Amino acid sequence: MLGGFRHRLRLLPSVFFRLELLLRGVKWCPPLHLVGRPWLSLASGSEISLGPGVTLDSSRRANPLGGSMPCILKTLSSKAIIRLGKEVGVSSSSLVAGNRIEIGEGTLVGAGGLIMDNDLHKLDPRGRWQNEYVQTSRPIKIGRNCFIGARAIILKGVTLDDHVVIGAGAVVTKSFGPGAVVAGNPGRQVGTLPGV
Ligand SMILES: CC(C)(COP(=O)(O)OP(=O)(O)OC[C@H]1O[C@@H](n2cnc3c(N)ncnc32)[C@H](O)[C@@H]1OP(=O)(O)O)[C@@H](O)C(=O)NCCC(=O)NCCS
Repeated sequence: MLGGFRHRLRLLPSVFFRLELLLRGVKWCPPLHLVGRPWLSLASGSEISLGPGVTLDSSRRANPLGGSMPCILKTLSSKAIIRLGKEVGVSSSSLVAGNRIEIGEGTLVGAGGLIMDNDLHKLDPRGRWQNEYVQTSRPIKIGRNCFIGARAIILKGVTLDDHVVIGAGAVVTKSFGPGAVVAGNPGRQVGTLPGV
């Protein structure tokens, strides 16, 4: 009986977190699994949508690697879109879009990941302090059932086909085909999943 009470007590904050997402204009379909409080923010007119069964793990304790930060999903321009498909799981990672980030059904993003479709600042040293989210942005598309390893970085313009595996700490600057196993900086294909 006490166990059931504790379980309900643990679920209570996620009710408030869901309400917060609704108030911020995030579109989500139930069930939505929120572990800890994610930080989601939308530029006016932009879109963040979470398919059914999405999990956002923002807690230090729930992930075996000990997440060091909440999940951060931010749209930075009025036309930006972040879409997570059915049963996508994200742990303690940042997704930041000036244009578009789409992640397909069943893909997992491991702890400490960073997915950014723009450079956030101008590269021209004369305008370095100005934020620039749109001009440098190129959409990122990640397919179905991919596995993005811990602390990987996915940069602008990358398309990953279905079943791609990205190794821990990889910096991915190019696109890869179905079932590619990618590792290193810059990310290179080190294998292919059998049977894909
Ligand atoms: C990418 C990964 C899945 C590949 O596993 P694998 O298919 O068993 O590959 P191997 O261990 O046989 O390695 C293949 C080659 O890639 C290299 N490699 C593997 N992972 C690497 C990585 N993360 N960074 C750099 N190089 C890597 C290996 O050194 C090896 O190189 P070699 O052929 O020159 O010897 C795995 O190494 C990895 O990074 N796992 C981490 C998953 C993770 O982050 N989980 C937590 C999520 S929260």
